[in-house]
Amino acid sequence: SSRPEADSLVGAIDQGTSSTRFLVFNAKTAELISQHQVEINQSFPKEGWVEEDPKEILQSVCECMERTSEKLIQLNINISNVKAIGVTNQRETTVVWDKETGEPLYNAIVWLDLRTQSTVEKLIKKTPGKNKNHLKDKTGLPISTYFSALKLRWLMDNIESVAEAVQTNRAVFGTVDSWLIWCLTGGKNGGVHCTDVTNASRTMLFNIHTMQWDPELCKYFDVPIEILPEVRSSSEIYGYMNSGSLVGVPISGCLGDQSAALVGQMCFKDGQAKNTYGTGCFMLKNTGVKPVMSDHGLLTTVAYKLGRDQPVYYALEGSVAIAGAVVRWLKENLGIIKSSSDIEKLAATAGTSYGCYFVPAFSGLYAPYWEPSARGIICGLTQFTNSSHLAFAALEAVCFQTREVLDAMNQDSGVPLSQLQVDGGMTANKLLMQLQADILCIPVVRPSMSETTALGAAMAAGAAEGVCVWTINPDGMTSVTSEKYQPKINPDESEFRYTRWKKAVQKAMNWET
Ligand code: G3P
Repeated sequence: SSRPEADSLVGAIDQGTSSTRFLVFNAKTAELISQHQVEINQSFPKEGWVEEDPKEILQSVCECMERTSEKLIQLNINISNVKAIGVTNQRETTVVWDKETGEPLYNAIVWLDLRTQSTVEKLIKKTPGKNKNHLKDKTGLPISTYFSALKLRWLMDNIESVAEAVQTNRAVFGTVDSWLIWCLTGGKNGGVHCTDVTNASRTMLFNIHTMQWDPELCKYFDVPIEILPEVRSSSEIYGYMNSGSLVGVPISGCLGDQSAALVGQMCFKDGQAKNTYGTGCFMLKNTGVKPVMSDHGLLTTVAYKLGRDQPVYYALEGSVAIAGAVVRWLKENLGIIKSSSDIEKLAATAGTSYGCYFVPAFSGLYAPYWEPSARGIICGLTQFTNSSHLAFAALEAVCFQTREVLDAMNQDSGVPLSQLQVDGGMTANKLLMQLQADILCIPVVRPSMSETTALGAAMAAGAAEGVCVWTINPDGMTSVTSEKYQPKINPDESEFRYTRWKKAVQKAMNWET
């Protein structure tokens, strides 16, 4: 008798702001089989600037893929069972490279970077009525330091090698997905220069109605359209791995990390939402096949398009710049914790912020304010305040920011969410999860497999035409187990603290005046 065929596997590259991972899933059961993770260095060359090295990013991806392949072999699994690879990534982060040498022309400018603040202020001043939402009809986005177009403009204006390479037709632009797919499919020797609709929708150069690069937007930012990648769906074969243990495997899924988490959380229906706690914190709500414009400071973004002939789904998004990043800050800048996971214990020793409020507006404030000039503040300090209160206030800040975004979402839709699906690294913190339920006054639900971002990318890759090892069927995945956190405190108490938080936010917004 012949041996039963082994189940197909699908890999996912998850290139986030703070770390890179490669994860391998069973395409039949969605079970996580193996993974490897590597931290990414960030540099802060000037106040408000945040950069990463594109080559280090690429290197970390290759390392994670090789280590995971070794782990599979140790598990007696044949790596030829890996049938497809998906890519999911930190969005907006901007890379420009020379397509002839294959070399990046500058560091990657990370989404959090504030160097374009004065350009943003100038642009807004020039618009009729000084309106930051001047380009929102086409892009779904306010003019902000967050999006790629401004970072790309800065590179062309300030880095000579970039300007020169643009003039001589050698420069190409990409978000991290494009950079990785280009390199992994052969780089200067025939690499594929593409992106997917979700990543494209974060550049501010993409028209979310026509689903194309928009010549008017390109003119507005004075960006030559030729340097932009080809825009594809989120699930189709873009190319094949050119080297390494997984050489020849198709790369067939591509989604910005927040879209991937929406897919991985099976939020396929209009009205379903998830909140992911990574470096930042991002709540996305599926609004179906029509883009919905927010009146309350949320973004309209492309959720996914799972196949060339499949419809485009849209989402409303509440973006919070600083979530996990505040924990990293407490660790690296203040040194009050040794490792990020220590924050839970430290915060728990106080169990309260003791009236201390911490607004970590390190990159200005994103949703719902979109105020690049806001800066972080800690207020309500007394002689009594200690590091555990500060740790608690930092976790509470993540929860309050989520509450602000959820309020905006509820106001936009008129139908309040009855519970919140969450995922991401920080959700391992049980204190944070309980605090979140208390501050939202609704239950918070966390899947036991919290790597939903990678799962979404794997699903898109495995389901692509020509691969077809994964049938995206949310109903078939009812075995997904989850933990539920019920609100425990009195809503009045929650309201009181939230009101205080709002006051602190006002101070962070106007701290200079
Ligand atoms: O828009 C930025 C976002 O994609 C970054 O996600 O998980 O690295 O905080 P994360």
